[in-house]
Amino acid sequence: MSSIPAQEQVRRPLQVPPHPHWPALSDDAKAALTGRIKSLLAQEHAVLVAHYYTDADLQSLAEETGGCVADSLEMARFGAASDARTLVVCGVRFMGETAKILNPEKRVLMPDLAATCSLDEGCPADAFSAFCDAHPDHTVVVYANTSAEVKARADWVVTSSIALPIVKHLKALGQKILWAPDKHLGHYVERMTGADMLLWDGACVVHEEFKSFALERVRKLHPGAAVLVHPEAPDAIVDQADLVGSTTQLIRAVTELPNQEFIVATDAGIFWKMHQLAPHKTLIAAPTAGEGATCESCAHCPWMAMNALQNLEQVLLTGAQEVRINEAVRQRAVIPIQRMLDFARIQGVGAPARSD
Ligand code: 13P
Ligand code: SF4
Repeated sequence: MSSIPAQEQVRRPLQVPPHPHWPALSDDAKAALTGRIKSLLAQEHAVLVAHYYTDADLQSLAEETGGCVADSLEMARFGAASDARTLVVCGVRFMGETAKILNPEKRVLMPDLAATCSLDEGCPADAFSAFCDAHPDHTVVVYANTSAEVKARADWVVTSSIALPIVKHLKALGQKILWAPDKHLGHYVERMTGADMLLWDGACVVHEEFKSFALERVRKLHPGAAVLVHPEAPDAIVDQADLVGSTTQLIRAVTELPNQEFIVATDAGIFWKMHQLAPHKTLIAAPTAGEGATCESCAHCPWMAMNALQNLEQVLLTGAQEVRINEAVRQRAVIPIQRMLDFARIQGVGAPARSD
């Protein structure tokens, strides 16, 4: 793996927030709240675009109201194809920004604009731009988990579901790649494709918490289980996987593989969709904090947890928390995102997970 000289990376200290504690709702209160949200969605000509890591109530409501529950690639495509006037993106900020970049004429709201991502935070645009300037002979490929400004500096944007085919394509063209920000995903792509890649030193705080020795023990206890791993996890976890893939690819594996048991190394929010599509399969969370330890990391993204029914209603009532992007940045950032979407369409990559 190519390493990055430390002086080329200027990192902001990362503040990982505690998980928000949303007050528990009685069944009646929840039914009343979802009823009010449904009316507001209709009134505002709005549609919900939710990620698999968000709260089960939000995923369920998105489906019930004609929105989507998906991975980052499909969220982008759904928003662009929708004729709703307002997209309400339940996820983290880069997902809302991607929706706005692709749909400048639509209003894009998020339950909480402070919902960021450790990968995005670990890749400030000014330092990243300097890094690109220092390596002008490299094609710049950035993960979707980045700011609009970082995307504006890229040749390609990729998500986890399409990173491998795009990098294989660039390698076949003889291009050297500057990759940011996820070093684990970058290293996985580098190993799978043999491409010449220079990696930024970023990581997902959720996937870095999976513990390899504890996972070995869980595998021994469940020898028939298939191990499913998101490629944001470190090598020691990826190396134990039966299947490595995006959230949609992991969900599809639960429905398609013959195994009855699955050990899942990604954010726990994904279990809602896995259970929905494969109710008779047994799902086991890959261990995070090690045997006997207190739960320092519950395999749930603290920023995804900022999305809830309560603040969704508020944002629909007030219109606050609207995603806005500088137009010059947007016009530049849309190019590598559209390049990815065109590539996905031509290659037929990334349909959403279905039970049939
Ligand atoms: P997917 O595109 O696979 O859904 O991943 C997004 C993400 O942020 C995972 O942590
Ligand atoms: Fe970012 Fe990790 Fe949260 Fe995904 S799970 S949004 S990569 S911090």
